[in-house]
Amino acid sequence: MKGKKMLHFLALAVLVHVCTASSDGRYGYSLTGQPEKTAKGWRLSLSRHGPASRYGNDLFYIEMHVEYQTEDRLRFKIFDPNNIRFEVPLKIESPSVTAADTNYDIEFVNDESTRFKIIRKATGTVLWETSLANLVFSDQYLQIATNVPSTSVYGFGEHQHPSFKHNMNDVTYGMYSRDQSPKMYANLYGVHPFYMCIESDSNAHGVLFLNSNAQDVTLSPEPSLTFRTIGGILDFYVFLGPTPENVIQQYTEAIGRPHLPPYWSLGYQLSRWGYPSIDVVKQTVKRMEQYGIPHDVQYADIDYMDNNLDFTYDKDNYAGLPEYIQELKKDGLHYIIILDPFLSKDQSRGSYQPYELGQQLGLWVNNSDGVTAAVGKALPPGESVYPDYLNPQTADWWTYMCAEFHNVLPYDGIWIDMNEPSNFLNGQYPACAHNNLNYPPYIPRISDSSLFHSTLCPDSSTYLGRHYDTHSLFGWAEAPPTFRAVQQATGKRPFVLSRSTFVGNGKYAAHWLGDNHALWEDMHLSIIGILEFNLFGIPQVGADICGFHFDTDFELCLRWTQLGAFYPLARNHNALGQKEQDPGAFGIEFATIARTALQIRYSLLPYLYTLFFEAHAFGNTVARGLMHEFTDDPETHGIDTAFLWGSALMIAPVLQEGARSVDVYFPDATWFDYYTGDKVPASSHNKYISVHAPLEKIPLFIRGGYILPTQTPATRTAKSRLNPFGLIVALNEQGEASGSLFWDDGESVDTVTSGNYFLAKYTYREGHLKTRIVNNNYRGVDSLVYDTVQILGVTSRPKAVLLNGKAIRNDIHYQENGKLTIHISAPLAEDLDITIQ
Ligand code: GLC
Repeated sequence: MKGKKMLHFLALAVLVHVCTASSDGRYGYSLTGQPEKTAKGWRLSLSRHGPASRYGNDLFYIEMHVEYQTEDRLRFKIFDPNNIRFEVPLKIESPSVTAADTNYDIEFVNDESTRFKIIRKATGTVLWETSLANLVFSDQYLQIATNVPSTSVYGFGEHQHPSFKHNMNDVTYGMYSRDQSPKMYANLYGVHPFYMCIESDSNAHGVLFLNSNAQDVTLSPEPSLTFRTIGGILDFYVFLGPTPENVIQQYTEAIGRPHLPPYWSLGYQLSRWGYPSIDVVKQTVKRMEQYGIPHDVQYADIDYMDNNLDFTYDKDNYAGLPEYIQELKKDGLHYIIILDPFLSKDQSRGSYQPYELGQQLGLWVNNSDGVTAAVGKALPPGESVYPDYLNPQTADWWTYMCAEFHNVLPYDGIWIDMNEPSNFLNGQYPACAHNNLNYPPYIPRISDSSLFHSTLCPDSSTYLGRHYDTHSLFGWAEAPPTFRAVQQATGKRPFVLSRSTFVGNGKYAAHWLGDNHALWEDMHLSIIGILEFNLFGIPQVGADICGFHFDTDFELCLRWTQLGAFYPLARNHNALGQKEQDPGAFGIEFATIARTALQIRYSLLPYLYTLFFEAHAFGNTVARGLMHEFTDDPETHGIDTAFLWGSALMIAPVLQEGARSVDVYFPDATWFDYYTGDKVPASSHNKYISVHAPLEKIPLFIRGGYILPTQTPATRTAKSRLNPFGLIVALNEQGEASGSLFWDDGESVDTVTSGNYFLAKYTYREGHLKTRIVNNNYRGVDSLVYDTVQILGVTSRPKAVLLNGKAIRNDIHYQENGKLTIHISAPLAEDLDITIQ
C-alpha cells in the first residue's frame, strides 16, 4: 500500500535518458516494464544501459526485490534472476507478507535512470538515495553508492581507526578477514558490513550489507557511501531505530541476539602466551591469590599443547595439567583452552587421530579440484589442513573432537584463534593458480592487495562453494560447533572466545580485539573497538589488557587494568617473549590498585550481568557510547574517550601517560561521583570538566534516575555470588530512579527461555523505594539478602527511614553531600519497601 503510493515511474523518460546515460559513458540500470507488487513488497526488473564496466561480464538483466519485513526493517536485494550467485547462509526471517504498517517509505523515480530513496516517514528524512545510473553489477565487481543524511556514521568492521565517529573524508575500509595485528585502517580479523547513522534531528538508523565477499566501502563528505564487493549479491537491510539502542535491538533481532554469558566469564580473566610450564601458571595463580586480586578465569594458550597440536597436551612441561584444572575448579576458578583451526597432516601415520578421522571423512577445505585437501603451513609441525566448518559433517567431527578432549582436559570454555583462516604461506601448496578468482579484476582496499596473503587461495573449494565467497565465514562457521561442544562437554552454558567473527556471531561467541600493542594509543583505540562490537551484536568484547606485543610498563599496565576492569570482557593477555604483566607481577602498589579496580568491577557485576540479560533478551548494547544515551547532544557524537555501561555508569579512564586528571564531558543529566556520591554541579553540564585522577583511581560517575544492583565483591564470582546485595539509588532532579536485577544460577543452559530466573524491578519515587518481582523462578535467591542501600541525591537529612513499615534507627548514615547509606538485612526474594521521611 504505502510503497504503491510513493512509487513514481515516468516510463517515457526512461527511454530518453537511457540514451543520455550511454552517451555520457555511464554505466547503470533502469527499470523495464512496471514494478510488480509481490506479497512481500515489490519486484523490479532492471536492465543495463550504457557500456560495460571495465571488470567484464556485466549482467544485462537484474532484479531488485523489496521486502517490507517489519515495521522497522526493510530489505532490498539486487541479484541475478537467471543464475544462482553466492548468498550468505545467515537466516534472517523473511515474513511472507508485508508488514502491516511501516515507519519507512520507499520511493522510485524513473527519470534519467531509476533512482530510489528510503524515507523515514515521521520526519521525511531520506536515509538512502541511490541512483541506479551508478550501479555496477558484473560477475566480479558490484558497486552501489548512496547519499546518507549526515556525517555521524559509526560501524563497519573490523578495523582500527582513530575515532568512533568516522571521518567521512574519502576514507576507504576494506573488509576481508585476515590474521592482521591491529593496524590503522587495515582489514582485520572479522567482517561486519554494518553501520549506524545519526540523522541531523537525532534519529538513528542502521544498515547491514549482507555480503561476505572481499569488499570495501568509501565514506565521502557529500555525505555518501560507496559499497564495492567482488561477488555475491547486493543484499541490504535497513533498520529504522529511531534511537541508537532501537537500531541495535532491531539489528540483533534480525541476525541473532547475543547469548547470555556464564556469570563467571564476567569475572577477571588472565592469560598469556609464554607460560613455559605448569609451574609458572601455578606461581601466577598463587600470586593473584596472595594479593587477593579477583580472578575467575585462567587461560591456556598454545603452550599447553604438545608441539602446537590441537587435542593434545604437553606431558612434560604441563605434566599433571588435568589434575591441576580440577584443583582450580575446586577453588572456583575456570580454565579456558585455546584451539587453532589447523590439523597437522604430518604426524607419523595413524598417530594423530583428529587428522586421521577428518581425512577419512574428507572434512577439509579442498583445492580447486574439490577433492584434494588444501595444504598450508601453520603453527603445528609439518604441513596443515583446514577443517571446512561450513560442512555439517566437519562441524559434527569438530564438536566430537572437542567434547572428547574434555575427557582429557576438563576445560570450561574454548578460545578459537587463527580462524581467518591464518596460513603462514601466501596460499596453499604449491601456489595459487593465475585465474580470475585468485587474481580478480578488482581487489578491494585490503592489505597487500592480495586475497591469499596469509591465507588460502580463493579458488579453494568449501562445502558451500568457493573460498572466494566463503573466506570471511571461516571463523563464523567454527563458532557454533565449538559452542555446542562446550555445552555438550560441560553440560553448562558455553563460553567461546573467537578471533574472527562475522555478522551474527554474538549468538555463539565473545571476541577480543586481537594482537594489540602495549602502547597508550592502543588503550584509547580499544574503547572504539569495544563500542563497535557492541553495535555488531557481540557485546562480550575486550582488548588484551596491558597490551599483547611489546613490553608494557607499570603505569601503562596499571591504567589499562583500571580501564580493562570495565571492558565487558576483562582479559589480560600477553605475547611470547614479553615480560610478565599479570597484576601480581609489579609488586604491592600495583597489586593494591588493581585489586581496588577489580573489586569495583566485581561489586557491579549484578548490574553488568543484568545488562547482558537485556542484550540477550532485547538486543541492547552493554558498553555504549555517550551518543547512545544523549543522541540530541551533538558533542556526544564524537566522544570515544569515555563510555557507559548501560544507561547509568560512565567510565572516564586515564588514557595518557603521566596524567593525573581527565577532562570529562558531562551531558545534561544528573551525575554523581561513584566514590564520594558528590553530585556534579549543574554548572558543569554540557562541558568538559577536569576531574582529579590520581594513579590509584579511575573516574566513574553514576547517572541520576537509575538504580544499580551491586554485591559485596570476593576474589571469585563463585563466592561473590553468595554475598549480600546492595542497591545504588541515584536520584534524578525529580527525586526518582529505576532499575532492575536479573539473577539466575549463572551457568545453566537456556535459563531465560525456560524461565528459571529471578527478575526484580526497582523504582524510587516520592521517598519510596519499592521492588516488583517480575519473575521468581530461581530458588538460589532464597538464601540471598540485601545489606546496603545507598541513595544519592537526597536533598535533606531524613527524619526517619522505614523498612517495610518499621523504623530503622542506628543503621543509617547521612552525609551532607546528599548520600544516604542504609544498612539492612532483607531477603532478596521478597519485596523491599523503604520509605525515607
Ligand atoms: C595469535 C593470537 C594470540 C595468541 C597467539 C598464540 O597471535 O591472536 O592471542 O597468543 O596467536 O596462540
